[in-house]
Amino acid sequence: MKTLIINGSPRKNGFTAALTGRLRELLDGDVDIVETYRAKVSPCMDCRYCWTHPNCVLQDAMQDIYTKIEAADNIVIASPINFAELTGSLLSWASRLQLYWVAKYIRNEDLWSGKNKYGAVILVDGGGGLKDIALGTAKRLLREMGAKFKDFVYFSGTDENDPLSDETTLNGLDNIAAVLNSAVR
Ligand SMILES: Cc1cc2nc3c(=O)[nH]c(=O)nc-3n(C[C@H](O)[C@H](O)[C@H](O)COP(=O)(O)O)c2cc1C
Repeated sequence: MKTLIINGSPRKNGFTAALTGRLRELLDGDVDIVETYRAKVSPCMDCRYCWTHPNCVLQDAMQDIYTKIEAADNIVIASPINFAELTGSLLSWASRLQLYWVAKYIRNEDLWSGKNKYGAVILVDGGGGLKDIALGTAKRLLREMGAKFKDFVYFSGTDENDPLSDETTLNGLDNIAAVLNSAVR
């Protein structure tokens, strides 16, 4: 089992990292974590090279990440909520998923047929309590990577509390791990 976690937090030891670290311990198989703030991935320039070629012209760290996305059985998007959305860094990183959108809708290729990837989302915020926009975006990005959304954890209130001390959040991570570890798909 291979799981790829995309972490959109700027803080190396922040709450998103704490939750993804916990999930990593619960998951079977190989787990890779990409931190978008440190990954050195340029944003899509809409050059449209991929409209006529099956790859991205930008030669940077995303080339290796494309390979990981394609090989993954599970993909997890984890992010702090910034102004009700996923972080800007995660969205900038995600612009490179345009490669997959173009494959499907411009070049009419079915990249994900026969694959059965599962997807999950982890969101934290200071206490605003507004998850729907960020969750909707994360689900959309999972779809671009061929992953079926299965479950999410959302902790609102990091200004006051540690999500790792919250039983509902810990149970939520257990539930995500149980789904992602399932061999029958
Ligand atoms: C630029 C910025 C925007 C933020 N916007 C929101 C927000 O809209 N709602 C909210 O509840 N918290 C907001 N926060 C707080 C973060 O979501 C919160 O501190 C989160 O726990 C940080 O996660 P991390 O520890 O993984 O980096 C914002 C923080 C920053 C820096």
